[in-house]
Amino acid sequence: MRYSAPPYMYDVLPYASSKEPWLTTARWRAIERHFREMVLRAGYREIRTPILEPTELFKRSIGEATDIVSKEMFTFVDRGERSLTMKPEGTAPAVRACIEHGLFAEHPLLKLFYIGQNFRYERGQKGRYRQHQQLGVEVFGATDPAIDAEVLALAMSFFTTLGVRCRLHLNSVGTSECRATYREALKAYVRPSLAHLSEEGKMRFEVNPLRMLDTKDQKDLAILAGAPVLRDFLSEESSQHFAQVQEYLTALNIPFAIDDGLVRGFDYYSGTVFEIKGEGLGAQDALGGGGRYDGLVEECGGTAVPGLGFGIGMERCLLALEALGIAPPQDDESPVAFIITAGEQQAGKTTAVRLLQTLRSAGIAADMDYLGKNFRRQFKRADDLGTKFYIIIGEDEVASGTVQLKDRASGEQEKIELDSVVPVIKSKLL
Ligand code: HAM
Repeated sequence: MRYSAPPYMYDVLPYASSKEPWLTTARWRAIERHFREMVLRAGYREIRTPILEPTELFKRSIGEATDIVSKEMFTFVDRGERSLTMKPEGTAPAVRACIEHGLFAEHPLLKLFYIGQNFRYERGQKGRYRQHQQLGVEVFGATDPAIDAEVLALAMSFFTTLGVRCRLHLNSVGTSECRATYREALKAYVRPSLAHLSEEGKMRFEVNPLRMLDTKDQKDLAILAGAPVLRDFLSEESSQHFAQVQEYLTALNIPFAIDDGLVRGFDYYSGTVFEIKGEGLGAQDALGGGGRYDGLVEECGGTAVPGLGFGIGMERCLLALEALGIAPPQDDESPVAFIITAGEQQAGKTTAVRLLQTLRSAGIAADMDYLGKNFRRQFKRADDLGTKFYIIIGEDEVASGTVQLKDRASGEQEKIELDSVVPVIKSKLL
C-alpha cells in the first residue's frame, strides 16, 4: 500500500525537489519571517485560532450563497454531534476570538496578524489548492481612511520588497444599502438577457447577483459590458471615504487601478475592497486580497466595531517569485562547525559528543557524523552541509586535550585547547 497526500494538498519538504523547488521549508520560513518582521514593525500583534470552528460562524459571516460556503467547506459532525468546519479563511475566526475574549472592549484599536492554514474544497490546479496558507492582518475599531491606506501599503510593500511585480486593483462596495439598490439595478439590466447567461451566471443572478460580475465567461462578460457600476450607487459618505483612501495611496506613491468588476467572494465586505494581482501567474493571479467589513463583528454577535484586513497567499507568493526567477530569501541551514573524529578509539568519539553539546549550548550550530563514516567521508559530509569550520579530533588531540580547528574557506588550521573552542569560534565569527 502506498499512501499519498490528499488531492491538491502538498508536503513542504526539508530539501528542494527538482519538480517543485518552492515547496521547501527554508523558503517558507524566510517568507514568514519577512511578513512577521514587517507587521511587527507596524504595531500588529499575533493571533492564533483553532483549525476548526463552528460551521455556523462561516455560514453567517462569509454568506450561505457564496461558493466557499455552498460548495467548498470541509465540514463534518464530531463525536459530540457538533457541526465543525476546517477554517476556509482567517477573518471570521479572528472576529469570533476577539468577541469571545472581550478584546474589542479593552482595545479600541486592535491590530492583529496571523499566519495560518485554510481549507477549501476547490477544483485544484497550479496555484489553487485545497489547503493553502495565508499571511493576514485584521484591524478593528477604526473607520479612518488612513488605516485603509496603511493596510493596503503593508500588503503592497510585502510584495515589492521581495521583488514581486504586482498591480493593486481597488474598488468600493459601499454600505449594504448602497449594494441593495445597486443589486436591483444590475438585475434589471441583466434580466432581458437572462436566457443567454451561462448556467453559473443564471444561478448567481438568483442567489448572489453581485457575484455575476466576477466571471471569466466571455458571453457573460459581453452581456455585463454596459451594466451599471456599483461606484455610481455609493452614498456620499462611502464615496468620500473611497476618495480619501485614493488620496492617501497617491501620497504614498502606490499605483492602483479602479476595478469596477472587483466584488470579492465573501458577503461580509463593505466599503474598500482590493486584490493584488501578480504577473506571469496564469489564471490564479490573485496574490492577496481583502477589504473593509464594518458590519461583520455585529453580524457575529459582537458590538458595532468596524474592521478591515487582507490575506496574502503563501503558495502564490512563492510561485510568483519562481516565475520571475527570483531566488526567495532563504534561511542558512548550514552548521558553523562540523566535528570530525579520526581513528577507531572511543575516547575521541566521547570528546566529540561532549564538544557538540558544548557548542550548541553556546549558541553555535554544530553537527557530526553518526553513520560510522571514514575520515575522508566525514569531510565530504561537512562540505555537503556547507560548514564554516571543521573541528578535527585525532589520537594526538585526545591525548593532549586539544582539537584542530580548520577554516574550510581559507584552509587555515590551528591547534587549540578543547576549552577554548567556543571563544575562538565566536571571535572568528565577529
Ligand atoms: P481570499 O481572497 O479568499 O481572502 O484569499 C486571500 C488570498 O489567499 C488569495 O488572494 C490567494 O492568494 C490565496 N488563496 C485563496 N484561496 C486559495 C487556494 N485555494 N489556493 C491557494 N491560494 C489561495 C480571504 O480569505 C479573506 N479572509 C482576506 C481578508 C482578510 N479580508 C479581510 N481580511
